[in-house]
Amino acid sequence: MTNATKAVEDAVHLLPQTRQLRALHTIIRDRHADRADFVFNASRIIRRLVETGLELLPFEPYDVQTPVGRTYHGLRASSQICGVSVARAGESMEAELRAVAPAVRIGKILIQRDVVTKLPHLYYSKLPADIAHRHVLLLDPMLATGGTALAAIEVLLGKGVPEEHIVFINLLSAPEGIAVVRERYPSVRMVTSSIEERLNENAYMLPGIGDFGDRYFGTDVVA
Ligand code: URA
Repeated sequence: MTNATKAVEDAVHLLPQTRQLRALHTIIRDRHADRADFVFNASRIIRRLVETGLELLPFEPYDVQTPVGRTYHGLRASSQICGVSVARAGESMEAELRAVAPAVRIGKILIQRDVVTKLPHLYYSKLPADIAHRHVLLLDPMLATGGTALAAIEVLLGKGVPEEHIVFINLLSAPEGIAVVRERYPSVRMVTSSIEERLNENAYMLPGIGDFGDRYFGTDVVA
């Protein structure tokens, strides 16, 4: 393994490509999937992504006594965390984060491409006041060109979050987007369930899933 390949592997945590994961992807990538199936099965994958993201955070030794009188030399999470979802698609990931961390604080960022300049523009952000002291799970299911991801990471850094405290969680990622994030912010770790082939001319991933937000929230349905 070259040093460059190792660096990418350290930064990008790809879920194990099991048959079960492939079956879940098959359901949600199917253009004929109904919305209930899409939401249910996307959420199952998101739960795995969130659990993997939590694995990357710090732990400290912690002993407990078992009911049969032995000491179990365990671990416990040793950092404060928060989620930050990139509206709108990232909001689809909040429920799975709350399911494993019910008291978690969740901030939001809204970034959209300016119609004139075509550059990502920050329209809104609301983040925990003490975010600089937390590890952040940044939630956005699609990493395509990487433009939104860079803008979101910049907002977090601007609030004092150290780069190495950011874990970016997405469901599908394009090699182009991974490269952009890796190059600008090498200490940001990424968790994904698929590295796609490439982007098409409209910046959709291939083989892809279409517009995730529209499919998840049901705004793609023609009356
Ligand atoms: N956003 C999506 O919803 N899908 C893509 O393929 C790329 C960006």
